Amino acid sequence: MKEQELDPLRKEILGAVENAESREALEEVRISALGRKGRLTALMKTLGTLEAEARRAAGAALNRLKADVEAAIAAAAERLHHKDMEARLAGERVDVTLPVEVGGEGRVHPISQTIDELSAIFGEMGFKVAEGPHIEDDFYNFTALNIPAEHPARQEQDTFYLMGAAGTRPEARKVLRTHTSPVQIRTMQAQKPPIRIIVPGRTFRSDHDATHSPMFHQVEGLVIDKHIHMGHLKGCLIEFCRAFFDIDDLPVRFRPSYFPFTEPSAEVDIGCSREGGGLKIGAGADWLEILGSGMVHPKVLANCGVDPAEYQGFAFGMGIERIAMLKYGIPDLRIFYESDLRWLRHYGFAALDQPSLITGAR
Ligand code: PHE
Repeated sequence: MKEQELDPLRKEILGAVENAESREALEEVRISALGRKGRLTALMKTLGTLEAEARRAAGAALNRLKADVEAAIAAAAERLHHKDMEARLAGERVDVTLPVEVGGEGRVHPISQTIDELSAIFGEMGFKVAEGPHIEDDFYNFTALNIPAEHPARQEQDTFYLMGAAGTRPEARKVLRTHTSPVQIRTMQAQKPPIRIIVPGRTFRSDHDATHSPMFHQVEGLVIDKHIHMGHLKGCLIEFCRAFFDIDDLPVRFRPSYFPFTEPSAEVDIGCSREGGGLKIGAGADWLEILGSGMVHPKVLANCGVDPAEYQGFAFGMGIERIAMLKYGIPDLRIFYESDLRWLRHYGFAALDQPSLITGAR
């Protein structure tokens, strides 16, 4: 068998490979040439009947043809794969300009919605979102925040301590963070000022009634820079309260308070009215406390390697459930975590109902 004698077969098979319009058709061509009963396979089988010399020449020619056919099939498979992909892409093309269907089955939980809203408001003011671990060291949750050893917050009845191995010293036990303030410490250790962060996240305290849950959420805020003073704290928090509750003239009051990690410290109240039994946020005769704040204590700065003579700052912390309940008129805290679909359909938010300052973050 001479090389030329194989030419018509070569042409025929390669032509068939070339013309295959689908992966199935290509597979048929492959089987008819190279399969167990394929034409090339059949020719290979005849080699045994040839003289040694003729067998060597014919074997080499057949092997070349086989290699060429295999290469052509691989190239055709690649081409058909691309063709399939393009057809699929064309078929599945999405028109992103079409109106979106909102109000399907799913709902955004009020906690997630509130975190989105406050992130949008503080985001506009130049804050970044930071996070930290739920399981904390005593150092981050208490010591670095200037909370003394005998402070009631450290006591067993308020704080969840992890057991630790037998013989672990009490101050070496891990705690479920009781507030988001440890992220102040972690952030100041990890980056140089200027710092402007908010920290929404879970917190844990050993409390359970209609207004307390053992797991709840806080948002921390921290601003550190040169020349930061109480006026910045006030301006920032007044602006936040008015944007969040969407009331331009919402009265905001700063009341002297005490936290070990801020000096001076202030609690922030917003105006409300309880006339006629119902609670209404806005101008009125009453006040509602909504958050704690203060100028970061110089000892806390020093604990994080920030020079208090060069940098000052303010911090604040508030309960997310509390402001969500106030804004959306949700009466009971416990049901937030019961995964009751009826509750979620009532108090939840439509997906893609993105909060922004223009749509009113409402
Ligand atoms: N960590 C305080 C709390 O949980 C809140 C707070 C944060 C107060 C930052 C002042 C500054 O009550």
